[in-house]
Amino acid sequence: MNKPARGSLLGIEHLDAKEILALLKLARRMNPRKARPLLRGKRVVLLFYEPSTRTRSSFEFAAKSLGAMTTLVQSSGSSIEKGESILDTGYTLQGIGADCIVIRHPSAGAPQLMAQHLDIPVINAGDGMHEHPSQALLDAFTILKHKKSFKGLQVAIVGDIVHSRVARSACHLLSRFGVKITLCGPPEFVPDVAATLAPGLRVTRHIEDALRGTDVVMLLRVQKERLGGEKVSLQEYVARYQVNPARMKLARRDAIVMHPGPIMRGLELTAEVADGAQSVIRDEVHNGVPMRMAILARAVGKAR
Ligand code: NCD
Repeated sequence: MNKPARGSLLGIEHLDAKEILALLKLARRMNPRKARPLLRGKRVVLLFYEPSTRTRSSFEFAAKSLGAMTTLVQSSGSSIEKGESILDTGYTLQGIGADCIVIRHPSAGAPQLMAQHLDIPVINAGDGMHEHPSQALLDAFTILKHKKSFKGLQVAIVGDIVHSRVARSACHLLSRFGVKITLCGPPEFVPDVAATLAPGLRVTRHIEDALRGTDVVMLLRVQKERLGGEKVSLQEYVARYQVNPARMKLARRDAIVMHPGPIMRGLELTAEVADGAQSVIRDEVHNGVPMRMAILARAVGKAR
């Protein structure tokens, strides 16, 4: 077992404020349309054991914009389907010359395990319910673009927090900068213990309470399969937690609405909010490319 290779990005929890700010600063200098070939000749593997649209394609565009070669390996159609273990897959990819592996996996800790056994940097593109560090960084990048600073900022995170790696990484990152975070949702999605995730978190069951005076509304995907039965029903969730224009009036007038996607219109939020003037959801996706360029440049490029 090794220490993860320099440049690996496994989570936000163990990243300090200086490293986060350095990555955000590097991302501001990245322009996908006018990129410098910082990764020329490098081979980046995108190893996806789970579906992805945004994360996968933006890592691919980011790598290619910097001059790298990329190859996509997905469970279906690869030896993973034949039962090859994650470590054996890692050794194979390293053996054929990969300089970096970007991995998404349904099990928490899978990227960490790979990083402990390989000599090349490993980037976590989402592991189970654990972390999604590149998403938290691109969200922080988006917040700073619209709000200039984290100082005095209030963020409401609404939805299925307990199952969300996006929420976990966002809480680690934002709390590092003293942002006041309110988590909101029914107890099955936001247990009281969620408040212990990071310093300065607060839990509320009332959407009005969460949205009042907030600068940022961060929504999370709610899976229909997780509603109903003993749990809150779809109708109840929509009635109590859906973000609609009337509820948005409680937030600051210049509040922004965020969502990592994929969005479920009519569930977490209404179409008016998703497409409204306060929504920065499409900007988040756009910012994913420069942010991931910075992450890759730190991992294998000259910006190390
Ligand atoms: C998220 C994920 O996969 O964790 N999507 C993303 O990467 N933008 C969120 C989700 O699927 O709910």
